[in-house]
Amino acid sequence: MKFKAISLGVALAFAAPLAWGEASVADYRAALADKDANPGFLVIDRGEILFKEKRGLKNASLEKCDFGLGAGKLKGAYAQLPRYFKDTDQVQDLESRLVSCMVKLQGISEDEIKQKLYADQRQNENNTDLEAMVAYVASQSDGMKINPPLKHAKEKAVRELGEAMFWRRHGPMDFSCATCHNEDGKRVRLQSLVNVYNAKDIQATMTTWPTYRVSHGVVRNMQHRMWDCHWQMRTPDIDYGSPATVALISFLTSQAKGGTYDLPGIKR
Ligand code: HEC
Repeated sequence: MKFKAISLGVALAFAAPLAWGEASVADYRAALADKDANPGFLVIDRGEILFKEKRGLKNASLEKCDFGLGAGKLKGAYAQLPRYFKDTDQVQDLESRLVSCMVKLQGISEDEIKQKLYADQRQNENNTDLEAMVAYVASQSDGMKINPPLKHAKEKAVRELGEAMFWRRHGPMDFSCATCHNEDGKRVRLQSLVNVYNAKDIQATMTTWPTYRVSHGVVRNMQHRMWDCHWQMRTPDIDYGSPATVALISFLTSQAKGGTYDLPGIKR
């Protein structure tokens, strides 16, 4: 599996300078569909090592982090996020919960954690530690059905807020998320845009995040997608793990309920 992952990476590195039009689209699609060849597995392996490493002022690992199913229970936890957490009195997604655990268990400050959220693909950077750990924890829900609880009053309220935000036009272009994501068959250049109100479409989308993005050469997570779409809307950078991002992600996740995680995903 690892050998195949590396060989794909090499193939892509050599293929990159060619115009995409010259490469066979069928070959490209076939490579994307071969799960064992997903370079995201290498990132997940690194994420696991980082997750179990003792770090921070408290010299602790993250193995006791509670993602909703109990301390240290990772299997299936991502499939039931976002959810309400008593200790923080907030609805949290995987990414914001991971930050809470790093602060609480390891004694690392939020400012320090947020200094470097994402790899910069223009600099050919490798995934950040944070991205790698998110990929690892999420991968423990591979094969499981998306099933956020939506029972607690705050879970319901946050999902409702997310849907309202989805429709709210704002920013210099006066776009809402719905401008691009509420109809079948919409495109920006060659990229087809998910219709959040088409169950099959949103399930296929959400079940494959975190995802290895071939054009970035790294694994991206839903927080990055929220940041990227806010960039599409030309708004200021949206804060990592902020209540606004969690609300949007709660809404998107609930729309995709019942879909089966196929992780890590692989996309353009
Ligand atoms: C100007 C159009 C535009 C707006 C507005 C926009 N997006 Fe996007 N969105 C895109 C593009 C382009 C992609 C990437 C498609 C690709 O690369 O295949 C994308 C991708 C996504 C994806 C991942 C789709 C997948 O197949 O994995 C999600 C989820 C998403 N957007 C949600 C949102 C949310 C939530 C908002 C509002 C905060 C939003 N988008 C606003 C253009 C937009």
